Amino acid sequence: MSTVISGKALSEKMRAEMTSQVATFPDLYGRVPHLVVILVGEDPASQSYVRGKAKACEQIGIRNTTILLPAQVSEETLLSKIAELNADDSVDGILVQLPLPSHIDEDRVIESISQDKDVDGFHPLNVASLWMKRPGTVPCTPKGIIRMLESEGVQIKGKRAVVIGRSQIVGLPISKLLLDRHATVTICHSRTVDLPSVTRQAEILIVAIGRPRFVTADMVSEGTVVIDVGVNRDPQTGKLCGDVDFGPVSEKASIITPVPGGVGPMTITCLMENTIEMFLRKMGADKK
Ligand code: GUN
Repeated sequence: MSTVISGKALSEKMRAEMTSQVATFPDLYGRVPHLVVILVGEDPASQSYVRGKAKACEQIGIRNTTILLPAQVSEETLLSKIAELNADDSVDGILVQLPLPSHIDEDRVIESISQDKDVDGFHPLNVASLWMKRPGTVPCTPKGIIRMLESEGVQIKGKRAVVIGRSQIVGLPISKLLLDRHATVTICHSRTVDLPSVTRQAEILIVAIGRPRFVTADMVSEGTVVIDVGVNRDPQTGKLCGDVDFGPVSEKASIITPVPGGVGPMTITCLMENTIEMFLRKMGADKK
């Protein structure tokens, strides 16, 4: 049987530490960090994510403003709202919940957020910073994965890491973070030939493809560390499930993350961490 990393428990611990840290900010800096979240439309999954972010802010003592815009809002209106927030000195972080309605150009919206308020780390300048090892904002989900591996004392250096999925949000950045920690990284995707033969080589396996229970026990070797980034609905039961067939795979893995309660809570917790980091950078406190 494997060790199950509870992202929920680790999140609680990190959030408690951040709560104490933020409590010192009014005395030190005259205010607390301020995160603005913009939600366009009424997609239930996005509404739930945005509520989770607001709740985490409340718990930690970060000021949160949620701006709700109708699904038909024009791109120009959204861009002018972002320009206003960029210029507002009381705002430390701006997050536009994705996906956006199809009439809005997502790339244009992401690029309009000022680099030093881009808490998601999606702005091209932050992406470049990550790949060039310059200071910048690291995307929340990959950052959360590294925190989980560190919390269990998983050695990354020298390990064979396999990442399934090559998205801008998870697959690519987690590959770079693992590479920076001296893993030998293989990135797999839908055109990879004989995927099981590649995944069986993995000592660390990161799965981020968005297909329910895609990774089965025959694709995993004994002792592998398995991180499941998927959030899917089981087509039969409608319940939340990951990209990994948890029961059988947990019989072989040394360490595994559950869904729900694994990577998900860590993403929001790292968003809080990013908000605090951006606030401290603005206050010049990161250089002290
Ligand atoms: N939609 C799903 N995940 C994310 C995320 O990490 N950031 C944003 N902005 N939108 C999302």
